[in-house]
Amino acid sequence: MSTETLEPEIVNPEKAPEDKPPVFGSYSRRSFLARLGATGVAVASPAAAMAQAVDPQVAAIRKGTHAVHLSINGKLHTLQLEPRVTLLDCLREVVQLTGTKKGCDHGQCGACTVHVNGVRINSCLSFAAMHEGDEITTIEGLGSPNEMHAMQAAFVEHDGYQCGYCTSGQIMSAVGLLKEPCGPDDHDVREAMSGNICRCGAYPNIVKAVQMVRGRMAQQRVDA
Ligand code: FES
Ligand code: FES
Repeated sequence: MSTETLEPEIVNPEKAPEDKPPVFGSYSRRSFLARLGATGVAVASPAAAMAQAVDPQVAAIRKGTHAVHLSINGKLHTLQLEPRVTLLDCLREVVQLTGTKKGCDHGQCGACTVHVNGVRINSCLSFAAMHEGDEITTIEGLGSPNEMHAMQAAFVEHDGYQCGYCTSGQIMSAVGLLKEPCGPDDHDVREAMSGNICRCGAYPNIVKAVQMVRGRMAQQRVDA
């Protein structure tokens, strides 16, 4: 058995014969970077040239945007959007209403809940362009720090949050629930709110807040 040590062959790529492909690992750091840089220039140059040659009007059409008119919190917005833009991304990225949160972006957490014509929906599952003529309400349109909606005040009173990330979705969902058929008990509220996940586990206080508002509404109906 041979005891000869096998050393990796050191190949200088600049001097490598034409018929012998360079071996991976045979580059010096300098020659590798030199080759990478040359390749980068070769790839980037035609794209850069093309970008310069494109007429701005043609570029705008290529983007595939369309004018979309949305009524959000009582204000009409005329926006230039791609058809694929979700209502959630439109609200957060275009209109800058960042109170609506993105948790999963897949309809599983409820952080993105808003109202469309008074009905709660997951805005991550809906395209913005579908909502021309609808009245969209976000947490910013529900109340203000000085004039909170009863549900916002109830969440504050009952500590219905910890980190707060899910809270705007929880509150929008809870307000939507007030107009829906829902049994009187805590487990009915938990069921109706099951689409809103709270990683902090603030559920008991959320249920208390919702039940407090429901109780007051019921009392007002009795008094009326
Ligand atoms: Fe829409 Fe989670 S971000 S349901
Ligand atoms: Fe933190 Fe609900 S308060 S996720």
